Amino acid sequence: MSYKYPVYQPYLGGNEKKYVGECLDSTWISSKGKFIQKFEDNFSAFTGIKNSVAVANGTVALHVALLALGIGKNDEVIVPTFTYIASVNAIYYTGAKPVFVDSDEDTWQIDTNKIEEKISQKTKAIMAVHIYGHPCEMDKIIKIARKHKIFVVEDCAEAIGTYYKGKHVGTMGEISTFSFFGNKTITTGEGGMVCTNDDKIADLSTRIKGQGLAKDQEYFHDIIGYNYRMTNICAAIGCAQLEKIDDILLKKRNVAQCYIDNLQSIPIEYHKEIENVKHSYWMFTILVASENERTKLRSYLKKNGIETRPTFHPVHTMPMYNTGEKFNIAENLGSRGINLPSYPDLSEADIKFITGKIKEFYE
Ligand SMILES: Cc1ncc(COP(=O)(O)O)c(C=O)c1O
Repeated sequence: MSYKYPVYQPYLGGNEKKYVGECLDSTWISSKGKFIQKFEDNFSAFTGIKNSVAVANGTVALHVALLALGIGKNDEVIVPTFTYIASVNAIYYTGAKPVFVDSDEDTWQIDTNKIEEKISQKTKAIMAVHIYGHPCEMDKIIKIARKHKIFVVEDCAEAIGTYYKGKHVGTMGEISTFSFFGNKTITTGEGGMVCTNDDKIADLSTRIKGQGLAKDQEYFHDIIGYNYRMTNICAAIGCAQLEKIDDILLKKRNVAQCYIDNLQSIPIEYHKEIENVKHSYWMFTILVASENERTKLRSYLKKNGIETRPTFHPVHTMPMYNTGEKFNIAENLGSRGINLPSYPDLSEADIKFITGKIKEFYE
């Protein structure tokens, strides 16, 4: 079914076509070419993280990040259960065990008061996932990590343009990752980035993504690596997207503000920005009273041409990762949330139409 208002659509229409054309004309269509380095450099300039390593998608970015920290078999990684499955899958790929933590009721991010009780002798890292574009409580996470001498990996797949106390997310842990899937704030089609201020970790990440190639030796490989490279074509799209990032982020903030203004009289909650942070509103998300009400509202909106998505099912409820544990906040968020259309060029009139239909449902 095609919707009048999809949940997301990429914001193209800049230099994307021109730069992709340059790749085709020059025949540099694989993972070598001028756009890769340019995209990495421009990405670092935007986030303020010293090194950026472009990869094929946000999932492999996490895999590379964990491997570059030496995480593997017999290790444990703390992760919020209320996240997209990729965060947890990447931990599993390394042979490490994901250890789940519940979410904070206000921010929907990992509950920092519940991390320490999950730390064991085997814990090597905390994965801080900035879900839906709101940052985690990074000061507390870093403090816990320093105390226990473990790493912090920031999964910023949904959080380009998100700031915590003035710092861009991804700048506070040892390593961080981003996704450029088609529904992300900036896209390369499929794509991801591994970022770190540590040159050695950056170097290792580059080697892991490129079949473990030894430094300065042709076709000699001294570690086991992967082909996780990004293509020049994807990087070309990324360069064009980065040229518009400020505009995209501003439009998305305006979309969120317009939803907030128009939802005032409706009995629902929404994902709020707390003090001292900047929410990039990757997805504007509301919470309704119950799962049953969610099903009914979503089908009412669907009938009116409005696509929505349910919030993520907490990962511990999925068969591969079911630990038999109960995480009340995550389960609550996963059963009552709805992502509304959140793309940058939604107009005020579009949002008035969407919120008008939500009002109609409650009347
Ligand atoms: C929190 C989170 N982590 C990781 C990923 C994985 O990114 P990708 O889809 O580019 O592999 C996503 C993507 O949707 C995500 O939302």
